[in-house]
Amino acid sequence: MTTQDDTAARAVAADRELKAAIRAAWALGDYHRFAKATVWELGTALVEACEVSTGQRVLDVAAGTGNTAIRAAEAGAEVVASDLTPENFEAGRREAKAHGVELRWVQADAEALPFGDGEFDVVTSSVGAIFAPNHQAVADEMVRVCRPGGTIGMVNFTPEGLISDFFGALAPYMPAPPPHASPPPLWGSEEHVRDLFGDRVESLEMTRRHYVERADSPRGYVELCKETFGPVVAIYASLAEYPERATALDRDFLEFATRANSGAPESPAEFRYEYLLVVARTRAS
Ligand SMILES: C[S@@+](CC[C@H](N)C(=O)[O-])C[C@H]1O[C@@H](n2cnc3c(N)ncnc32)[C@H](O)[C@@H]1O
Repeated sequence: MTTQDDTAARAVAADRELKAAIRAAWALGDYHRFAKATVWELGTALVEACEVSTGQRVLDVAAGTGNTAIRAAEAGAEVVASDLTPENFEAGRREAKAHGVELRWVQADAEALPFGDGEFDVVTSSVGAIFAPNHQAVADEMVRVCRPGGTIGMVNFTPEGLISDFFGALAPYMPAPPPHASPPPLWGSEEHVRDLFGDRVESLEMTRRHYVERADSPRGYVELCKETFGPVVAIYASLAEYPERATALDRDFLEFATRANSGAPESPAEFRYEYLLVVARTRAS
C-alpha cells in the first residue's frame, strides 16, 4: 500500500466513524415527537415552494420522519424519503399511514446518495442535509440526482438566526467537530448556497423566513429538547459521569431558552427561528 492509499483509507474509516456517531445521536430521544412539536410546518412550506405535483418523482434528503416527504406524497408525488438514521423510519411509516400515503424509505448519506443521475424531478431537504459535514458533497449529490430542468428545494437555518444561539449554548459540552466539517447554519447564507450550486442551476430563489417553536415555558422547551432531540440527548448521555458539567449545561441551556423566549409575559414561550427557503432550477441541459 502506498502512503496515498493509506491516507485515503484512513479518511474513509474516519468518515465511517463520524457518520456512525451522527446516526447514533439522531436515533436517540424521540425525533418524531420533537419534529411534530417544533418544525412540522416547514415540510408544507417547502412542498408548496417547490410546487410539487401529481406524478412527480421526489427525493427528500435527510427526511427524518417524513416532514417534507409525507407532504410531497400528499401532493400526489412518488416519494423516496432518505436519511442516515433508519431508526426513525418506523415513526415515519406510522405518520405516513395516518396521512393515507405510502413512501419508500431508504437509508442514505446525503454526501453519497445511492440513486442514479437525474432520477428525480424534485429533490428536497428541510433542515436536514445541512447537518452533513461536507456541504459541497451534499450540493453535488442533490444536483446529480435531480433531472436537468428539475427543482431543488431546501429549508436551511441561517447563521444570524436563533439556531446559532441554540447550538452556541450546547457547543462547550460537545466534542469539537472534525476540521473538514462546515457548520450547518452556513447553508443559510445566500452567498454560500450560490457558491455550492454554482452554474449548475439556472435560477436560484432565496427568501428569508421565520417560524416559531412553542413550549409552555423556557424550562418546558429545555425539557422537550432533553427528552426528544437526539443530539441533545447524546450530549447529556456523554456527561453521565460528570454531574457538575451536566448541571452547568442545564444552567446554560435554560439561560439560552429564557433569553431567546419572545413570547409575551405570562404566555407560552416562543422561539422564533429564521430560515432560508431555497428553490433552485437545475439547467435544462
Ligand atoms: C433536524 S432533522 C430534520 C429531519 C426532517 N427533514 C424534518 O424536517 O423534520 C435532521 C436529520 O438529518 C439527518 N442527517 C444528519 N446527517 C445526515 C447525513 N450525512 N445524511 C443524511 N441524513 C443526515 C438526521 O438523521 C436527521 O434525521
